[in-house]
Amino acid sequence: MAGNGKNGAPLVYMENISRYFGLIAALENVYFTVDRGEIVGLLGDNGAGKSTLIKVLTGVHPATSGQIYFEGQPVRITSPKVARAMGIETVYQDLALVNLMSISRNFFLGRTPERRVGPVKLLDKETMNRLTVEALADIGIEIRRPEEEVLRMSGGERQSIAIGRAKYFGSKLLILDEPTSALSVGETRKVLGYTLEAKKAGLGVIFITHNIGHVYQVADRFTIISHGHKVGDFLKGEVSQEEISQMIMGGPVPERLVDVVAEREAQLRRLSEQMADRAAPIVIRQQARVRQRHWLIAGALIVLVLAIAGLLIGGGAFSEVEPTPTITPIPTIDMATVPDQVKNALDQLANDPDPGRRAIAASMLGADRFREWSGAAVEPLIAALKDPAHEVRAAAAKSLGKIADPRAIDPLQELLRDNYSNVRNAAAEALQVGFDLYCSDAEGCKPKGALH
Ligand SMILES: Nc1ncnc2c1ncn2[C@@H]1O[C@H](COP(=O)(O)OP(=O)(O)O)[C@@H](O)[C@H]1O
Ligand SMILES: [Mg+2]
Repeated sequence: MAGNGKNGAPLVYMENISRYFGLIAALENVYFTVDRGEIVGLLGDNGAGKSTLIKVLTGVHPATSGQIYFEGQPVRITSPKVARAMGIETVYQDLALVNLMSISRNFFLGRTPERRVGPVKLLDKETMNRLTVEALADIGIEIRRPEEEVLRMSGGERQSIAIGRAKYFGSKLLILDEPTSALSVGETRKVLGYTLEAKKAGLGVIFITHNIGHVYQVADRFTIISHGHKVGDFLKGEVSQEEISQMIMGGPVPERLVDVVAEREAQLRRLSEQMADRAAPIVIRQQARVRQRHWLIAGALIVLVLAIAGLLIGGGAFSEVEPTPTITPIPTIDMATVPDQVKNALDQLANDPDPGRRAIAASMLGADRFREWSGAAVEPLIAALKDPAHEVRAAAAKSLGKIADPRAIDPLQELLRDNYSNVRNAAAEALQVGFDLYCSDAEGCKPKGALH
């Protein structure tokens, strides 16, 4: 399991990760690894720390301590956006897609291809629809109507879109958090099929579930955690479904496996020494290299799809499919866990009669120190884009750019036509900073790849 990749390093190596929420230890001293072309079932009872582990990996919650290595290099993954830029596509348990958008808009979220008609820029819906149908068909997913709202899709179909995106845009790691918990048997089987497709394409896959029956068939390996502690790594074939179920429920490691599993864990911890020998590069360089590799992985697929698609849009054939990451909404969070300072700011933003104080609240909600709570701020900030005071609209736009949740893309684009130039500028800057969209009120928005 440890390292079939470049320099013998695993795709992901999480070293000695701990994460505390106040006094609660969600994770303690956990070592975890995934390779290219490997499906790891990440298993544990509710509250075991599974979601927290992948949120640490994708920059939603910083680890309290520990280090992450991606392709053998130490990295600092400070936000979901950074994770995506590195090639990590995540379907969070709580929220994965924007329900009111069409299937194809979701597929191209944050990277919409556009077409010029005279002086006006239009979303090229036809092209988006066609490419979406083709890319999904390529991994065996038949969709009937790409212009249909995601809301109308079944749970399994929604998962499939994210999986299709991960493969199409050349991601390296696909993370699925309880993707099958709400699905029928038939739908579950389909999602498992797509998961195998992603593996065949060379992606590493982390498949989270508390129900071993959902993942036993497709996984190569199982990592079990319990109450924030790692129980062990188990290879398929050495352990039965029943035994795994017992361990998920807190039972002991089967007698015959105790030594094997302990030795495997010791080996995993020794990887630390090899990793520590490597020079620490800066994250920016890491991303540049990832982009190049994206091109290689995605290249063949893209050329094929474009060739079939035939019509190339206004010189932007490659720019619209430049393998920069897709953007996934920030997960919503439990209000009971939100600190008072943030709650007060939310309250002020919605109710304070003084526009100055509403504006301050709007900027506070985008501050880095509250990033962990931005899931609670996205919708109130979007509502504040319609505040009667221009300084509040501008501050809300700025904060939404920092948070970079895709639900803000459309409302921010509307703000490009605001009567106040400070608001228009704030919206344009937010679209650029948060979503790599280059916008002006005169010309509309272009994805970064479309610029020359
Ligand atoms: N944002 C948070 N604030 C406070 N506690 C949290 C937060 N997220 C998770 N926890 C706690 O951390 C533990 C692990 O949760 P989680 O990772 O969601 O478990 P799982 O995904 O395995 O069900 C639980 O005790 C949970 O209550
Ligand atoms: Mg969870």
